[in-house]
Amino acid sequence: MRASQPQSIYLKDYRKPPFLIDHVDLRFELFEEQTRVHSRLQVRRNPEADGAERDLVLHGEDLELETLTLDGRPVEDAVVDSESLRISNVPDQFNLDVVTCIRPQENTRLEGLYKSSGMFCTQCEAEGFRRITYFLDRPDVMACYRTRIEADSEQYPVLLANGNPVDHGEMEGGRHQVTWEDPFPKPSYLFAMVAGDLVEKRDEFTTGSGRVVDLRMYVEPRNSDKCEHALASLKKAMQWDEEVYGREYDLDIFMIVAVDDFNMGAMENKGLNIFNSSCVLASPETATDAAYERIESIVAHEYFHNWSGNRVTCRDWFQLSLKEGFTVFRDNQFSADMGSPTVQRIDHVNMLRTAQFAEDDGPMAHPVRPESYIEIGNFYTLTVYEKGAEVVRMIHTLLGPDMFREGSDLYFARFDGRAVTTDDFVATMEEASGRDLGQFRRWYEQAGTPVLHVSDHFDAEKGVYTLSIEQSCPATPRQPHKAPFHIPLRMGLLDSTGEPLPLDDIGNTEQVLELTESRHSYRFKDLKERPVPSLLRNFSAPVKLDYAWSRDQLMFLVSHDPDGFNRWDAGQKLAIDVIQSMLEGNDTEVDERLIEAYRNLLTDTSLDRAMVARMLALPGTAYLIELTRDADVQAIHETRQRVQTTVANALREELLAVHMRNQSSEPYAFSAERVAARSLANSALSLLTLIGDEAGKDLAVEQFRDAPNMTNRFGALSALVNSPFEKERDRALEQFYVDWQDDPQVVEQWFAVQSGSPWMGGLKRVRELLEHPAFDWKNPNKIRTVIGVFAARNLVHFHEPDGSGYRFLGEQIQRLDASNPQIAAGLAQPLTRWRRYAPRLRESMKSVLEELLAEPQLSKDLFEVVSKSLQ
Ligand code: PHE
Ligand code: ZN
Repeated sequence: MRASQPQSIYLKDYRKPPFLIDHVDLRFELFEEQTRVHSRLQVRRNPEADGAERDLVLHGEDLELETLTLDGRPVEDAVVDSESLRISNVPDQFNLDVVTCIRPQENTRLEGLYKSSGMFCTQCEAEGFRRITYFLDRPDVMACYRTRIEADSEQYPVLLANGNPVDHGEMEGGRHQVTWEDPFPKPSYLFAMVAGDLVEKRDEFTTGSGRVVDLRMYVEPRNSDKCEHALASLKKAMQWDEEVYGREYDLDIFMIVAVDDFNMGAMENKGLNIFNSSCVLASPETATDAAYERIESIVAHEYFHNWSGNRVTCRDWFQLSLKEGFTVFRDNQFSADMGSPTVQRIDHVNMLRTAQFAEDDGPMAHPVRPESYIEIGNFYTLTVYEKGAEVVRMIHTLLGPDMFREGSDLYFARFDGRAVTTDDFVATMEEASGRDLGQFRRWYEQAGTPVLHVSDHFDAEKGVYTLSIEQSCPATPRQPHKAPFHIPLRMGLLDSTGEPLPLDDIGNTEQVLELTESRHSYRFKDLKERPVPSLLRNFSAPVKLDYAWSRDQLMFLVSHDPDGFNRWDAGQKLAIDVIQSMLEGNDTEVDERLIEAYRNLLTDTSLDRAMVARMLALPGTAYLIELTRDADVQAIHETRQRVQTTVANALREELLAVHMRNQSSEPYAFSAERVAARSLANSALSLLTLIGDEAGKDLAVEQFRDAPNMTNRFGALSALVNSPFEKERDRALEQFYVDWQDDPQVVEQWFAVQSGSPWMGGLKRVRELLEHPAFDWKNPNKIRTVIGVFAARNLVHFHEPDGSGYRFLGEQIQRLDASNPQIAAGLAQPLTRWRRYAPRLRESMKSVLEELLAEPQLSKDLFEVVSKSLQ
């Protein structure tokens, strides 16, 4: 056990800051051994503070205080502990000069100022700024920053910070300085600086009002040919935000920097976004279509934060979803507009239903606006981000696009330059629309995924169809009882020919039912026959829907539902039903209807190919586990595999034809149509190799050898890795590494395809990868692609009945906790779900958690995850 129990922080304890800081003047003296940070703060008492504090208490961690002066006079009696600096009896207004010394080269947590492949960079969200200098490191303290960076001219020719460059010059001893000024007040978590030997790629964007913005991307010289896609995505995002939200960019420069060592995907620092290399660098030869898509959406996400996050920010970290939920919703809308809205929705819901639903059902379940936390780093969760985005989407559905836009305009106008709450957001939406969102606010307050139980009745004599809907929500930690949610349920009814039926007197064929009570029933009149209901279209609310469709009805919906999302979902439901009844021993053979459904998909060339690729994919093992109590992972995996191989064997000819039809000799283009064709061809290929088809093997070997781009090459590699063709697989893996060993992002893909594969010898292989020269314990991407991918995706091996997978993960977490607690706590996620599994698995997962909890040196981050998951 830890020596002392870390304290929880509660939303109800929020107080306004006793002091404000209006201006910050920073000077960084960067050296190899240490960095000296000079900071001058203009501080004043907050006139709106709740009580009159005499003392100023600044946050600070792992800092060496060198000097401290207040209005020019040394402060003698400051009290410093491991988390703060206290100066007693300060005046109402004063300047504070602080000099601290830090050691970025030893910073393995990657929070604050650190070094990554020879460059200096920062990460301040959520509480990293306090590792750079003493400060009121909370988002409701907003200041204007001036930043002077001094460093060796040769080693660090590029010196960047937020805002605009205002001064630069040579200094003695081969050093130089650049000074930056950011005119927009911002919280400290948005501060950033970078120093390195980087190449600059330039572009520009002219805003709607005719201002020319300099776009600059900074990367290591070896990556200079991987910037085009990110810059193109950035321009699209800038254009889109003007058109859809009326938001223009505000500074003259917008910069993106790529760094190899980064805990998350990317960071929206004002005017200086810092990205994990894997989320920004791409070329057709090195990045797959999936990476291109990810980059487009993350670049947009970070850019959109300039308004939803930076201009209007969060009052405190409990409000994290204010910026994240809204911004994810915005980037989802953007991606939908850039490609196929249905496919985008399918991918997003698939992830939400698999991973966010699991989180909401586990021991770390928390509301979109949490009530308490021990370590805020643990709350950058799927609930805050993805469910938060679904909540904003529901507001959009309830208000309609026009009213939603009015609400967002009002929100940005009213709160510009301020730090506000999710409640302020909802209130603005209410004010603009005149709608009452009082009950709707429960989505922010109550954790857990609501369940809708739907039953129906058809009165043939009267021609009346009745839908009865009951909502409930399971208990979650500290919330035993839930009040009903306000749920928008988009639906329609179809007749037996597939025609949509009018639902009201005006002839609308689609409706949004607003559920607010525990039970509702809806009557639809003048019907000649029993209709087939199409419910929760486009996944209009993040809920589980329970209605007993027959397999024939599902088949019917797969081909007739006018809602593309529901067509896909009907296919998933059909497959789930088939797999589950085989698992339960009710069926011994794969239902022919499922095979027929797939045959139709493969032969109908009029269908959207991206859709077909999605529809061909059986529900994932992780999702099937999520739907099962006491999950027996091996049985689920085997049954799913059996269905998959049965289908593929039956459709061998069709798969070969699909693979052939979807080849192209044109040069790589990241266009929706080409992406769809490649994705379908690769899906077909992987089904063929999975069943050990010789022709499929030859195609894969050939595609691997001749691939003109990484999507084809990696598709072939992955098909071979997940197949019985060991010789070809090993050859391809070896060749791939030889070809790409100098490219970290490609090597990460190479790691992931092996550690995630049920075919590759499981844990033994993963241990070998940890010994591989390209593996690096300090690099989060390597850790995630080997250890994280193994635990999250290689489910048969992670859940090996002898518990070896769990013990392995426990060892790695313990080892990492000392160097990077944020990453260690993240890796522990799969273990926290122990209650889901069959008793034997459950017990050994639990004992690994118990062993971790017994560690005396446990970080706050890991302590919170482990202790809460055992409660
Ligand atoms: N705020 C970042 C984003 O979502 C995520 C992030 C959080 C990055 C914390 C680093 C640290 O865009
Ligand atoms: Zn974000």
